[in-house]
Amino acid sequence: MNAEIFLQVDNYISDFLAPEDKALTDTIKSLNEEGLPQHSVSANQGKFLQVMMIACNAKKVLELGTLGGYSTIWLARALPPDGKLITIEADNHHGAVAWKNIHNAGLSHKVDLRIGKALDILPEIIEQHEEPFDFIFIDADKPPYTEYFNYALQLSRPGTIIVCDNVIREGKVLDENSADEKVQGVQRLNKMLSENENITATILQTVGSKEYDGMAIAVVNRTA
Ligand code: SAH
Ligand code: DHB
Ligand code: MG
Repeated sequence: MNAEIFLQVDNYISDFLAPEDKALTDTIKSLNEEGLPQHSVSANQGKFLQVMMIACNAKKVLELGTLGGYSTIWLARALPPDGKLITIEADNHHGAVAWKNIHNAGLSHKVDLRIGKALDILPEIIEQHEEPFDFIFIDADKPPYTEYFNYALQLSRPGTIIVCDNVIREGKVLDENSADEKVQGVQRLNKMLSENENITATILQTVGSKEYDGMAIAVVNRTA
């Protein structure tokens, strides 16, 4: 078992179940051309997000961390015709690249891209008394993941699914003495998930075309 077979099997799965069209491959290309990091989810992870969205009949989606819009395109494509997605991105340049890619994918009418730090924008969304979101994808900077998750809960209803990317970090979460702020951020989140009685959560390890990592999946519990 090694990275090579994980990659080959990832490609085997995506060839069947998550083929990329030109809008998606152009988005990945734009990251290199515009100097953005290759931190997008993989095709199979994009498809996984769609499966989760359809399982909870998601019409209203919130994403933290847009980058070039690759995950945004997967998410927006799984919305019904009247569905809406708000995606938050702190970096102006990333936002501009993402908007172009979302427009090229024909999805700009469904996507509301908010430029700013998630910790500034989330309280604004709460003040605007938005209807609760059905599905929330947390994939911005890692140190404040616990704060992001708490905001996500405030914007949720029973049944809302919250997915958090990159919570295993090549297994570095096992190191209780890690000095890496990203690792510390996801360790805090994972501990909080284990203690929070209002949600039911698990973590799936992810292997394949991306670094070895994991996604946390939480569903907000029914009340009583
Ligand atoms: N979801 C994307 C990848 C996101 S990478 C995909 O799978 O295609 C993480 C993104 O979060 C980067 O674009 C980064 O600029 C952004 N980010 C970093 N700090 C942030 C913050 N405080 N608020 C919002 N976005 C932030
Ligand atoms: C990083 C962030 C991501 O969202 C990702 O999927 C992979 C790596 C990072 O900041 O290191
Ligand atoms: Mg990520």
